[in-house]
Parts: sequence; structure tokens; C-alpha cells
Amino acid sequence: MPVSKKVKSIPISGTLYISEIAKNMEKRGKRVLRLDIGDLNFPTPHHIVKAVNEAIERGMTHYSSSKGLRELREAIANKYNETYGIDLDPDKNVIITPGAKFALYAVLFSILEEKDEVLIPAPCWVSYEGIVRACGGEPRIIKTKGLDFRIDYESLTRVKIKRRVKALILNTPNNPTGRIYSLKELKEIRDFSEEEKIFVISDEVYDSIVFEGRHISMMELMDPKEKCIIVNSFSKKYAMTGWRLGYIIASEEIIQCVNRLLQQTISCVPPFIQWAGYVALTSEESKRFVKEMREELRRRRDILDSGLKSINGLTYRRPEATFYYFIRIPFDIPSLDFSKKLLMRYGIATVPGVFFGGYDNYIRISFGSVSIEEIMTFISEFSRALEEMQNAQNKTIS
Ligand SMILES: Cc1ncc(COP(=O)(O)O)c(C=O)c1O
Repeated sequence: MPVSKKVKSIPISGTLYISEIAKNMEKRGKRVLRLDIGDLNFPTPHHIVKAVNEAIERGMTHYSSSKGLRELREAIANKYNETYGIDLDPDKNVIITPGAKFALYAVLFSILEEKDEVLIPAPCWVSYEGIVRACGGEPRIIKTKGLDFRIDYESLTRVKIKRRVKALILNTPNNPTGRIYSLKELKEIRDFSEEEKIFVISDEVYDSIVFEGRHISMMELMDPKEKCIIVNSFSKKYAMTGWRLGYIIASEEIIQCVNRLLQQTISCVPPFIQWAGYVALTSEESKRFVKEMREELRRRRDILDSGLKSINGLTYRRPEATFYYFIRIPFDIPSLDFSKKLLMRYGIATVPGVFFGGYDNYIRISFGSVSIEEIMTFISEFSRALEEMQNAQNKTIS
């Protein structure tokens, strides 16, 4: 019996390919530097774990409203209202989802008709393309250039909208570049989306991991009650990737559509998990944790940066946010081949740039799950690998 064409059009996860090989090597006792992992090696703060254990004991083990616990929606609305001076209504403009990934799926499922197009400025997170396809849409990658990967009005309008473009997915701070989009870029996106009458879906899951500058939420420029859709989660902010907890902020109409989907699919996010989110958002200990984790990540970034600087001929920009570096491969080799060589010969796991919107001359490295010692080993091994690969290339040419 044939399975659906739609599901066959969903690409398999690019990050899994390398991580499967890395895991097998580790099982065989090989040392692997796991710079491929988009996760953090910080335990979820104890006060959150404790609060959840207590919530389970108290019997928070039944269905909640499909929109999510009122306390959590209110805490989210309050946080944004206080920060941005807006007036989100927790009953109309907020809904709880199992992570940001599913939030994106639910939003796209709610707005797309078959073959509607979605603009995705790249480099972009590996899953956007797949999620758009899973919802029957057509992803249209907009490649940005230069080491700053700037999005500008001209390049947006150059991608002439003849067909059925419905939305643009923005990701700031950005995975994989570690960039924060500037106010000017965001204004241009706003102007463009208003002229073309398309939704802006703003994925802001890294908003708390910022080392320099300021994260600007799309909410500062567009009213989420009408114009833009904000997707966020607890995964990266509180080292809670495995808990699967996220949320959407949007107009009442969008929230109602997403709610229908949740009612007929997941029913609700487990209430004790939602309670974890409430505790994470409202306790002072969480604020301290976020700050301490950010400082440790900054330390890793700085050490990595001075190491990378010492390698001749490398092109990259220092990320001001997230825990990723997007590095240009200094010679001519497809990124998947390069990543495989780095992994199998030198025990360095990275993610090929081709999966981030087709940047086949880049790799992404993550410093979310490595120690300072591992970073030092990476620098010396990476430097050796580049030298040896370069020599081998020179030999084949001459
Ligand atoms: C840009 C971006 N958006 C969304 C997600 C998914 O987050 P969640 O764990 O909340 O589903 C990730 C995870 O790596 C990400 O990098």
C-alpha cells in the first residue's frame, strides 16, 4: 500500500546523519568531540525538577485545557507585557505547545493551503524546510551573503512574489550563524511583509543566550495580536530540551486554529511539564541559572574564538548569541564529505552547512555540550586536520 506523497517529501533530519555515526563510534570506545549537538550539557535547574516531582505527587496528572494551564499562559503574557509594554490576553493570545518545533508545525498547519510558499532567509535552522513540507507548503530559501548574512529589503523583493507566498520565517538570534538581526533588518522585514500581506513567524528560542548587543523581538515592531506570530520555548533558556515545552503568541484567530489542532492531536501538554514552565518563568533561582549558564557559554565562546583565530586562513564571524559557530571550509570540498572526514579521521563531529539552507562550503559547530578541555583539544585537532587535508589537496593538484 502506498504511503502519502506529503510524508515522503519531508527530508530526514540532517543533524541525525552525523550524530548516528558519532554515537556508533562512541559505542565502539572511540573518543568523539561532540560539536554537532544542538543541546546544552547543563542539568535542568534543581528547583524546577523538585517542583515537578511535587506537582506529580499532588496529582497534576490529568488533562489540562488544550490551550494550557492558565497560570502558565498568564505568566507568559505578563512577562511580555511588562517587557514590551503591550497588552497580550492570556486567554486569547497565548497557547502552550510541546516545544517550539511543534509550535512551528501547528502555526504553519494553521495558515498554509497546499503549495503555499514560505520564505526562509538562510542560513536557517535545519528543520524549517521539513516542517513547511510536512504542512503541504513549499519552502523558498532566500540565500543571504557575506559573513554577516544580512537580510535586506532588496533581496526580499528580488524574490519576486508571483506565487502564493503566505509567510516568512525569521529566526533571531540565529541558528546556525549566532547573529542577532538588527533593528534596520527587522524593520525591512516588517515593511516587506506588510506590503506583501504575509505572516511573519518569528522563532526566538535563543533570546536569552545573548553575549553582546540586544535581542530585538519582532514584537517590538509588529503587534502579535494582529500581524506577527511569535514562537518560543523553554528548551534552550532553562536547559529543558527534553521536557518539550514551548508556546505561541499570536492573534486570537491563529490561537483558535492552533487550539483546534491540539484538541484533535495531543489534547494538551502534560500539566506537570507545564507547571515546570510556570516555576521556571516565575522564580528568582531561574534568573540566576540563566545568567550563570550564559556566562559559562560566553567563556566557552571566548576560548573557542581565540583558538580559531590562531588557525591560519579560517573565515568565520564571532557569534554574539546562541552557542554555534558557522565556519567556512577553507578549501573546495562538499560539506558532508568534510564533516565525515573530520569525524572518522579526527573524531570531531560537526554538522554540514548544506543542511542549513544549502551552504555547502560551511560547517556548524556547537559549544553547548563540550567542556573547556574539549574545546582546547578540538582546536589542536581541527588545526591538524585542516593542514593535512590541505596538503593532500595540494598533492592531488600538483
Ligand atoms: C532555531 C530553532 N528553533 C526551534 C528549535 C526547537 O526548539 P524546541 O526544543 O523548543 O522544539 C531549535 C532547536 O534546536 C532551534 O535551533
